[in-house]
Amino acid sequence: MAGSSNVSNMVVGLDIGTSKVVAIVGQPTDDGGIEIAGIGSHPSRGMKKGVVINIESTVQSIQRAVEEAELMAGCDIHSVYVGVAGSHISSMNSDGVVAIKEREVTPSDIDRVIDSARARAISEGQRVLHVLPQEFAIDAQGGIREPLGMSGVRLEARVHLVTAALNAVQNIEKCVRRCGLEVDAIILEQLASSMAVLTEDERELGVCMVDIGGGTTDIAVFTEGAIRYTAVIPIAGDQVTNDIAMALRTPTQHAEEIKVKYACALTQLAASDEMIKVPSVGDRPARDLSRQALAEVVEPRYEELFTLVRDELRRSGYEDLVAAGVVLTGGTARMEGVVELAEEIFHMPVRIACPQNVRGLADVVRNPIYSTGVGLLHYALQEARQGHGRQAQGSSVMSAQPRREDAARRGDRDGFSALARLKGWLKGNF
Ligand SMILES: Nc1ncnc2c1ncn2[C@@H]1O[C@H](COP(=O)(O)OP(=O)(O)OP(=O)(O)O)[C@@H](O)[C@H]1O
Ligand SMILES: [Mg+2]
Repeated sequence: MAGSSNVSNMVVGLDIGTSKVVAIVGQPTDDGGIEIAGIGSHPSRGMKKGVVINIESTVQSIQRAVEEAELMAGCDIHSVYVGVAGSHISSMNSDGVVAIKEREVTPSDIDRVIDSARARAISEGQRVLHVLPQEFAIDAQGGIREPLGMSGVRLEARVHLVTAALNAVQNIEKCVRRCGLEVDAIILEQLASSMAVLTEDERELGVCMVDIGGGTTDIAVFTEGAIRYTAVIPIAGDQVTNDIAMALRTPTQHAEEIKVKYACALTQLAASDEMIKVPSVGDRPARDLSRQALAEVVEPRYEELFTLVRDELRRSGYEDLVAAGVVLTGGTARMEGVVELAEEIFHMPVRIACPQNVRGLADVVRNPIYSTGVGLLHYALQEARQGHGRQAQGSSVMSAQPRREDAARRGDRDGFSALARLKGWLKGNF
């Protein structure tokens, strides 16, 4: 089994989304990719617009997803890299400067200059999530990406600083810990997604990555290889479903089904003679509706959303610098007509992206809904490679271990756990 081979570098990503919670277990391959050993997914019940609104329900969803991933990977999960999103996230670019102590830049100088860029007034109740270096300058020389070992007396750093509301982060941590798991690190969701879906070339040329989920639309802008701008818009697939439910007067779960099966984001692509059945509320009989009429309900919401993204991109000041265009991911990007509509609004090339550089359960995870989950693994492994994660310092990059027979490790899991372990044991032995 995957878990019993090279376990020392197994990592686990936990994406607590508004629609689903997914746990993904993976380990690095020799060529810089990821071998997926297991995945568990469960509908999310306690989240709204990216934040926890019900701890108990969220805990249950996490437990189920983690149990499933453990079962599939044949391992015990101890700690996880967790994603975070929501309107409480703020980000800004910041600068720092220090004197180079030995006239040649050492890792400690780099740490100090990044710390000095981080030492900005953070509003009360916010916590720094990421300090992402963009570029360095030594004396008069700017645009340096790797300053280590270079000579000079004055080192400057420009960083992208991401902060999140302390309460929102603590609630996520609480949910994870209640499941008996440690938090390796909390990562901005669009940072994770972009690590899974963007190519090196796109990041260099300039690109705007947009992860449209159920509750939030997460944006990240990259130019010259570095992250420049991040933002979260609290509108996504749930609003599309609500619009359908309201317009067609049908219960939400039917609206969701109709959306996924038949909806189209561009009215002109939907046939007017292709009819679908819409269940009514109460005892009233189902009605017939054309796909075109359905698209007329859906298109304005997608149009509004892409317009908000475009406004955000304009505000960022990077609109003219994203030569590689827009990369869409997340479940809501899967709808027919999305690329065409987005290209009309952005006037740029648009593509839909799935997680890349994955092996193992590649067919399963090559789906835009898993971009954040797989991206969390990329983040974890990059941190391990660099060996000096600024956030998760001291945390070992080993989130999972092969199952042992003493299954009583975690007392707070229910009977499902014992059953899962038994099944895992059977699977591993036959
Ligand atoms: N084929 C499809 N067409 C249109 N929408 C889809 C399709 N498949 C999934 N969706 C929508 O994608 C959304 C879920 O996407 P995703 O799994 O990326 O969200 P999430 O990560 O749980 O949420 P968030 O990131 O906002 O917290 C739901 O609104 C769902 O209706
Ligand atoms: Mg998501």
